This record gives sequence, C-alpha cells and structure tokens, in this order.
Amino acid sequence: RAEPLVLGIETSCDETGIGIVRGRTLLSNTIASSMDEHARYGGVVPEVAARAHLEALQPAIEAAVAEAGITLADLDAVAVTSGPGLAGALMVGIGAAKALAVSLDKPLYAVNHLVGHIAADILTGEEVQYPTVALLVSGGHTSLLLVRDLVSDVELLGETMDDAAGEAFDKIARILGLPYPGGPEIDRAAATGDPAAIRFPRGMSRASDMAEHRYDFSFSGLKTAVARWIEQREAAGEPVPVGDVAASFREAVVDVLVTKALDACARHDVPRLLLGGGVIANRRLREVALERAAAAGVAVRIPPLSLCTDNGAMIAALAAELIMSGRAPSTLAFGADSTLPV
Ligand code: KG4
Ligand code: ZN
Repeated sequence: RAEPLVLGIETSCDETGIGIVRGRTLLSNTIASSMDEHARYGGVVPEVAARAHLEALQPAIEAAVAEAGITLADLDAVAVTSGPGLAGALMVGIGAAKALAVSLDKPLYAVNHLVGHIAADILTGEEVQYPTVALLVSGGHTSLLLVRDLVSDVELLGETMDDAAGEAFDKIARILGLPYPGGPEIDRAAATGDPAAIRFPRGMSRASDMAEHRYDFSFSGLKTAVARWIEQREAAGEPVPVGDVAASFREAVVDVLVTKALDACARHDVPRLLLGGGVIANRRLREVALERAAAAGVAVRIPPLSLCTDNGAMIAALAAELIMSGRAPSTLAFGADSTLPV
C-alpha cells in the first residue's frame, strides 16, 4: 500500500498542533500553545483554550504545509482528535478538520488522543514493536495502556481517579509559590533537595487498592499531604525547605508511576515500556524509569519531547496507520467526546 500523505489536527487541550506525515515519515510538526494565557489562572481554562485554537489554527495549518513542502491538494486524508480532552477545545479542531476535508474532498479520520500519543513512537524512525505497555502522563491525563496492536488492540489498564500527574505538579508548584507550568519549576527546585527528606504517600498503592485499582492512580491525597505538611511548618514558625518538599513530592509521583508501569510489564509479560506526555520531560522520571526498567529487563522508549507533548504529527501518524491497515474513514457526523474510550 502507498504511503498516505496525512494532515493531523490536535486541539484537545492548550496546544494547537498541526502535523503532516507521509506514511511513517514526519514532514512537519507545528505547535502553537496558549499556555501563557493560562499562566495567571494556574491551569488551563477551557474557554480560553478554545478561543486560542480558533485563532491559531489557520496560521498553524499554513505553517505546517509550508514546512512540509506540500500543498493542501496533495493530501490523501485529514485526521483530527475527537477525544478525550476539553469538549470546547476539541470542537474547534473538529470543525476545522471537517471544513478542510469537505472543501478538499478528502477522507476524514477521527482518532483517539491517547492512541495518538502511542503512535508518536512510529515517527522516531526506529523499529516499533508490540506488545508494549504505554505510560502517558501530562497535564490532562495519566493513563497506563497495554498495546497489543496499535490499530486494533489497545487496552486501558488504568488511569487517574482525580488529578493528572502534570496537574499535581502544577498545583504543588502553586502552593510553593512557583510559577505555572509547575513541572519544570519543581524539577529545578528538586535538584537542590533531598528526595528522602519527607515520606509523602503513594496514591492507590495500599494492599486494599490493589484488587480493583492496581493500575489506577490518585494524586489528590498527595497534594493534600504536601499542603498539610507545609501548613504545619508555617504554623510552627519554621521555614519551608522548598527543595526538600519539591524533591520528596517528585519522588512520590515518580515512584508510583514507574512502579505501576513496570508491574504492568511484569504481569502481562511485556518487556517494553513506552513513555509519552509532557511530564516525560521530568528528569527524575526518566532516570528512575530507565534505571528500574533495566533491572527488570524492560526496554524503555522515550520519543523526543516534541512528539511526547500534545502534537498534530501523532494524530496524522495514527491516521496513516489506520489507512494503511485498510480502515474506512469516519463519516462527518462525529462530534467531540471528552471521555472517548480507547
Ligand atoms: O503534554 P503537555 O505539554 O500538555 C498538557 O497536558 O497540556 O503537558 C504539560 C504538563 C504540565 O502539567 C506541566 O507542568 C508538566 O506537563 N510538565 C512537567 C515537566 N515539564 C512539564 N511535569 C514534571 N516535570 C517536568 N519537567
Ligand atoms: Zn496528551
């Protein structure tokens, strides 16, 4: 089968991503982020994100097309994230994708954002093997998946019951008086602290959680524990050791993410772990994942960060795989599904 030329549109959160691929080859990956506009709120504001997508989409499409050295008429298909994500933000991308597909008379593929993250790995140019376990951690999701086949067999093993891991970083940063987004700030502050200084709780890890929530995550209890610890220090008139709090908090998040991911590898007898999502930028997460995976005989794959954070190329890559596997396009009747299952 010929390698399809696909343009992918990603607007599930605060990144307006347009990517173009030819089969498994990345041609362009343009990102416009409204992150700065959310900074003063300390988190992504859905309405603000949707409005920003509307303004950013057209210029992003033009930039991606120019960078890829193609014209829109060359495209074989258009792809778009239909969920999960922020409904209003998704709708803007879906509207644009439908308009593009209809005006160009090209087939349209609605794809799942999480499966898109998994597809990003294909664009690294290295040989991709399945089955693999995938750990996807960002400001919007924390999911553990078992991928037996990218286009036909992706199983959600578990996900967060409350905050996403990135959201937890952002909230703790705020408590510590650090700016948004909090992940990089905590990472920096943690470099000066002792990860063993304070033993913060590992959510969903008690024996009683293991039957039903073995692969699920919870970070709200951790957030409360950190806030309470800081309050007690302040009430006692003692200074808050920001480095130690950041390092100990980061350690708790990293520990539970890596422990559950490798547990999934072991129990499903899968010697591969794929990491994705913006939190993968975390230095300690990479370090601990690589260290413990090596000890467990698990090979870790970490695509470049531009493919780990939300982007349009992964959406185009997934659609290209669907096309090459013979999947029929979507009808134009689909909408945004903020809780779309894999
Ligand atoms: O995938 P991403 O760019 O998009 C959204 O989910 O919107 O992820 C952003 C999230 C933010 O919550 C940010 O604080 C977190 O990823 N993040 C990090 C680091 N860099 C970004 N979290 C921990 N450590 C980091 N170094
Ligand atoms: Zn994402």
